[in-house]
Amino acid sequence: MPVTYSSYLKLDQLLSLQQPLSDGPEHDETLFIIIHQVYELWFKEMLHELDYLKSLLGRQDTPRALATLKRALTILTVAVAQIDVLETMTPLEFLSFRERLESGSGFQSFQFRELEFVLGLKNPAALERYPAASEPRRSLERRLHEPTLWDAFLHFLAGGGWRVPPELLARDVTAPVSPAPALRPILLEIYRRDPMASTLCERLVDLDEGLQEWRYRHVKMVQRTIGTRRGTGGSEGAAYLMTTLNQPVFPDLWAIRTELGPGP
Ligand code: HEM
Repeated sequence: MPVTYSSYLKLDQLLSLQQPLSDGPEHDETLFIIIHQVYELWFKEMLHELDYLKSLLGRQDTPRALATLKRALTILTVAVAQIDVLETMTPLEFLSFRERLESGSGFQSFQFRELEFVLGLKNPAALERYPAASEPRRSLERRLHEPTLWDAFLHFLAGGGWRVPPELLARDVTAPVSPAPALRPILLEIYRRDPMASTLCERLVDLDEGLQEWRYRHVKMVQRTIGTRRGTGGSEGAAYLMTTLNQPVFPDLWAIRTELGPGP
């Protein structure tokens, strides 16, 4: 059989995956399903690009690392903008099928947790939400034991001759990335003397800010759609989501901004 557009993209399967649960079905449930599926595809692509980015950093390939970061950032911009589409759904339209979700929630998105892990937000408790030996659990366990993007970046700097403190290069990669004041004088020097590495730093800040932007837009969407109701995933809803805001993934890149100046 010759390859066609449909066969290559497996459109038969792809287009049969949108199956509303509501009676009727409710008009907006199709949008709700499609937007979540699109997000999961973007999460998959982001993980694909971030894995590649880590390997490029490992090879000291700065030009390609920058190009890959640009792609990941462009995807993130699209992902944030997509919230606009879901905000065309009114609270009443959402309530017309919400009970059909039962305890299903984006809270259970294992690819979102994988993204958090890759970026350095490692929380082993996230594993407990998935049955032992299930595919999501295995993926997260693998990610937990993998170096994060930040670890790859620190090794990249060390490979470029920067004196990254050895304890940071040998840190326990299953732990979350935490602020490291000893690194900041080095980052300050990089900003003053190494244009390529400092551009990488800026793109990492873009990534960090982009994720925070997504969280902010998501919580605003939640507030305007369900107010202060509890989430289907069992949390307090918007009140819980508010606690996840303003948590930078690369804290040292933010911390140095206060001290950054032309220097000696
Ligand atoms: C009407 C639309 C939406 C509403 C009302 C909503 C509501 C919520 C609520 C209340 C939570 C907190 C956990 C819970 O108790 O359920 C949550 C978490 C989450 N949602 Fe949504 N959501 C919506 C759309 C989306 C979309 C389109 C995505 C894209 C994948 C998404 C991804 C997530 C993720 C990843 C979390 C976990 C966040 C964290 O723990 O930091 N949500 N959502």
